[in-house]
Amino acid sequence: MKNVQELNQVSDFVKREYDSLAQNGASTLCCSPSDTYTPEELAGIPRIVLELSSSCGSPTKGLELYPDQTILDLGCGAGLDVMLLARKLGPESHIIGVDASNNMINVAKSAALEAGIPNAEFRLGDARDIPAQDHSVDVVISNCVVGMFPDKEKVFSEVYRILKPGGYMVAIDTIFSKKNSESFDELTSQDWAACIVMMSEEEYTMKLLSTGFEHVDFRDQLIVPYRDGNEITSAKIFAFKSK
Ligand SMILES: C[S@@+](CC[C@H](N)C(=O)[O-])C[C@H]1O[C@@H](n2cnc3c(N)ncnc32)[C@H](O)[C@@H]1O
Repeated sequence: MKNVQELNQVSDFVKREYDSLAQNGASTLCCSPSDTYTPEELAGIPRIVLELSSSCGSPTKGLELYPDQTILDLGCGAGLDVMLLARKLGPESHIIGVDASNNMINVAKSAALEAGIPNAEFRLGDARDIPAQDHSVDVVISNCVVGMFPDKEKVFSEVYRILKPGGYMVAIDTIFSKKNSESFDELTSQDWAACIVMMSEEEYTMKLLSTGFEHVDFRDQLIVPYRDGNEITSAKIFAFKSK
């Protein structure tokens, strides 16, 4: 198991990777938004947001969400899911995106202005120290983010802290890696940046339950193509906080 210093080194590397992606151009780490969303859904979203999107599905597709809910996207990147949701739920809604990359947040802020979506708010912050008050959020979404953390317990306990009683998290994550590594320690920082998750459904579930979540559900598991022609297994994971 990695010590705290090593965990922070991995995390700093991952943040730098995404910061330079946002500065330099298109992401090649995950699947393209056109694999997930229709051209109509993506219409009007600035091209830079589509190019920087590093998702593995849609956390919000098929969900019943309402304009009066506070919804926070953890690791929002250039803000695609935040913008699509803010536009769909209308100007009364308030959707917050949090990301640790300054460049991603800056791209997201100016793209939301350009696309005329003022109800999308973006905050710079770490998923292990989320800039949101205790019990202030109805739904936390995340898209291809949780897998990046060697210390997932910290992320889960922060999500638990900010959720209101009865709130829930819905995360899209790749639960199986195409790399057949024996242990976490064999993974490089580059692997973590590519959201490789070396956990089974059971291990993922146990980590959420031991954080305090009442109930965990895996839904909509599907194979999604990697940009390089490979395939990974993506799942929609729900974790419910008791009322
Ligand atoms: C695979 S990308 C997913 C981005 C976005 N959810 C999407 O669908 O395009 C992972 C994102 O997590 C962000 N990130 C990396 N480390 C982070 C951390 N410690 N806390 C919060 N966000 C982080 C990266 O900057 C990047 O934008």
